[in-house]
Amino acid sequence: MPDWVALYYDEPLELVSGKGSRVTDASGRSYLDFFGGILTNMLGYDVAEVREALERQLGSGVLHTSTMYLIRNQVGLAEKIARLSGIEDAKVFFTSSGTEANETALLLATAARRSNQVLALRNSYHGRSFGAVAVTGNGAWKSSQLSPFAVHYLHGTDRQLPGLADLPDADYISACVADLEHVLATATAGDVACLITEPVQGVGGFAMPPDGLFAAYKEVLDSRGILLISDEVQTGWGRTGDHFWGMSAHGVVPDMMTFAKGLGNGLAIGGVVGRRDLIDGPVGNGISTFGGNPLATAAASATLDYVLDHDLQANAATLGGLIIGGLRDVVGPLAVVGEVRGRGLMIAVDLIDPGSGEPCPALAAQMLEATRERGLLIGKGGLYGHALRIAPPLNVSQAEAREGLAILIDALRAVDAQAS
Ligand SMILES: Cc1ncc(COP(=O)(O)O)c(C=O)c1O
Repeated sequence: MPDWVALYYDEPLELVSGKGSRVTDASGRSYLDFFGGILTNMLGYDVAEVREALERQLGSGVLHTSTMYLIRNQVGLAEKIARLSGIEDAKVFFTSSGTEANETALLLATAARRSNQVLALRNSYHGRSFGAVAVTGNGAWKSSQLSPFAVHYLHGTDRQLPGLADLPDADYISACVADLEHVLATATAGDVACLITEPVQGVGGFAMPPDGLFAAYKEVLDSRGILLISDEVQTGWGRTGDHFWGMSAHGVVPDMMTFAKGLGNGLAIGGVVGRRDLIDGPVGNGISTFGGNPLATAAASATLDYVLDHDLQANAATLGGLIIGGLRDVVGPLAVVGEVRGRGLMIAVDLIDPGSGEPCPALAAQMLEATRERGLLIGKGGLYGHALRIAPPLNVSQAEAREGLAILIDALRAVDAQAS
């Protein structure tokens, strides 16, 4: 295994079984799971409807056919996603991961625009392949500076920077738009292909720009024919509570959206949904051997139906609000907490050094241990690895949300007492 695939925790944790929002490790200890394999077990574990869909497909004996043959599950799922996308006359292409989804969207956008110039956001993460790393704006995850694109980075979540700090939202948006126009005028040749962006930055520590930034960016992009790709790999399917897609918080319908992670509730599936002319654009043939395979699309279709039938977007809004509010109520006296932020069931807590106020990854690592000891799994992220990432399954119950919140508060108080 490569050195660059890192494990959480001082002692590695092996999860051997799961049910609902709970998992059990190899020693028999059970945990409430508020990270879900990085927002991927969107409905938690062993949901009957998803299991039955998988068993039906397994029972048929056909796990793979290739896209050379009609896969009914795939067509049905594509139709659902196209309808939900809000993109007029949309088409869908399935992949096996978020990285491949972004590769596809970038390929389509650069081909359509006959340009390799791409805009991306600082503090972004879009995957681990050559092209996806090239548009990633986080040094810690940039394993190569070599690039198929000419990439220019925009502001989005840089409110900590001198000159941008403490600006009211409207002024911050104006400053970002002025910067976009300046980048286009100074650093590009005028025929930029696209902007690719996460509406809420996942690896970036659930950092988000003020609502309206992407609408303001889109006005400039539209005036020059530049396409907008929304990377919804973490933000899709109602997780942000108020909206089904993260980008909708900005009142914007992008030209393409990419998705993966939660859709298959653990089965490997990703894809791009976008304008018909863009998806149909390439002149050459294309195939993804495993993308949209019968098993993954069976799981994804059942997962998506479950999300819609149980209105889990509303659950994300209600219980996300409960956890965010509960944290905000108590963190005031805690010197180790910089900020609590969130949107639906994407919740972050920044850990800072109580003396300097600087981001403190060591305290975030301590919080991971402290929550593990208390029976709760969470994640971390952020530019400096200092942000706790809390992302319960979309079907988390109110009792579980309260239980997790109590553990978080207890662990924060313990880490704060130790640090002070
Ligand atoms: C926003 C975003 N885009 C793309 C990816 C890449 O997805 P995958 O790991 O499935 O290739 C990730 C993974 O964390 C992500 O968070």
